[in-house]
Amino acid sequence: MIKNTTTTYGSLSKFLHWTIALGVIFMLIIGFTMGSVDEPLSSKLYGYHEEVGLTILGILLFRIYWRWWNPVPVLPNSIPKWQRAASSFTHYLLYIALLVMIGSGWAKSTSSGYTPNFYGLFELPMPFIPVSTAVKHLAKQIHVTTVWIIISLVSLHILAALHHHFILKDNILRRMLPGNWIK
Ligand code: HEM
Ligand code: HEM
Repeated sequence: MIKNTTTTYGSLSKFLHWTIALGVIFMLIIGFTMGSVDEPLSSKLYGYHEEVGLTILGILLFRIYWRWWNPVPVLPNSIPKWQRAASSFTHYLLYIALLVMIGSGWAKSTSSGYTPNFYGLFELPMPFIPVSTAVKHLAKQIHVTTVWIIISLVSLHILAALHHHFILKDNILRRMLPGNWIK
C-alpha cells in the first residue's frame, strides 16, 4: 500500500526515505571530493552537487508534506519512553539539518555569484540572497558545520536501526525496507 499505517511505512514513504538517503550519501561523497580534484572535473562536480542538492530539496519538501498527511508508525510498547522521545527528536532534527544543509549551500552558491544551473534547463538563484562576501562566508560556515551534524545524526540513526534489527530483533528496520518483511 502507498500510505503508512500505524504499524508500517507505506511504499511511497519508503521510496522517499531511500531516495533521499542515497542522495545524501552521494552529496557527501561529491562534497568532500569536488574541492580537491583538477579542472574541468572540479567544476563538473560542483555543478552536480548543486543540481542534485536542489533535486533533493524538492523530494524532501514533498516527503515532509507526505509525512504530514500520513500516520507515523508507532513504536512497540516494549520501547522505553526516553527512547521514543529520542527517536522522534532525531527524526525531526534530521529533517531540519537537511533543510539547513541545502539552504546554506544554495545561499553560498548564490551569494558567490555562481547561480546554480538546473540540469542546463534554467538558472536557479536562491530568492532574496544578494551577491555578498559576508553572506557567502556565513553560508559557507553554516554549510560546513551542518555537514558534521548530519554525519553524526545519520550515524546515530543507522546504529539505532541496526540495534533494533540485530539486538532487539523487532520490526523497526523491516518496516522501512522495500517489500513486506514484517514478522
Ligand atoms: C543534502 C545536501 C548537501 C550535502 C550533504 C552537502 C555536502 C557538502 C560537503 C560534504 C561539502 C564539503 C565541505 C567541506 O569541504 O568541509 C560541501 C561543500 C559545498 N556545497 Fe554542499 N551539500 C549539500 C547541498 C548543497 C547545495 C544544495 C548546494 C548549492 C546549491 C551546495 C553547495 C556547496 C558549495 C558551493 C560547497 C563548497 C563550499 C566551499 O568550500 O566554499 N551544497 N557540501
Ligand atoms: C542519509 C541517510 C538517511 C537519512 C537522512 C534518514 C532519515 C530518516 C528520517 C528523517 C526518518 C523518519 C521517518 C519519518 O518521518 O517517520 C527515518 C526513518 C528510518 N530510517 Fe532513515 N535515514 C537515512 C539512512 C538510513 C539507513 C542507512 C537506515 C538503515 C540502516 C535507515 C533506517 C531507518 C528506519 C528503520 C527508519 C524507521 C524508524 C521508525 O520506524 O521509527 N535510515 N530515516
